[in-house]
Amino acid sequence: MEKKTVAIAADHAGYALKEALKLRLTEAGYAVIDAGTDSDKSCDYPLYAEAGCRKVLDGEAELCILCCGTGAGMSIAANKIKGIRAACCSDVFTARHIRLHNDANVLCVGARVVGEGLAWELVSAFLGAEFEGGKHARRVGLITALEEKN
Ligand code: RB5
Repeated sequence: MEKKTVAIAADHAGYALKEALKLRLTEAGYAVIDAGTDSDKSCDYPLYAEAGCRKVLDGEAELCILCCGTGAGMSIAANKIKGIRAACCSDVFTARHIRLHNDANVLCVGARVVGEGLAWELVSAFLGAEFEGGKHARRVGLITALEEKN
C-alpha cells in the first residue's frame, strides 16, 4: 500500500519534536511536507497551524501533524479553519480513534507533554487508522453542519 503524504508544522516549542518526527516519518516511508517553523526562535503557533492545515486543504497532503508546547494552541487554531478536524492527543487510543470515528485530518502533539517515543506512537496510531464511516459519517456530517451554521 502506498504511504501517505503527511504535512508537519510546529512553533518554536514544537520545533525539535517536529524535526524528530520528520526523520521518523521519512524513515518509515512517508512523504513529508514541512510547513515550518525552521528554528527554535520564538514564533506564533496559529501561523504554523494554518500553514500545515493549508497543505491538507490544498490536497498536497492527506493528513497533518502539528506540534507546539501543549498541542492545545495548535488544535484550537486548526479547528478554526473550515474543513479541518484537529485533536490534541497524548494517548494512543485517542490518537487512533480520532481517525476511526472523527475522521480527524490533523493530529496535534504537545512537545512539553509527551516525549519523542510516545509522540511517535501517537503519530503511528493516527496515520495507521482509517475512518470507519457508517454512523460516524453522520456525526462528522453534523460537525460540518455546525461549521456551516456558526
Ligand atoms: C509557547 O510558549 C506555547 O505557548 C505554545 O507552544 C503552545 O503550547 C500553545 O498552546
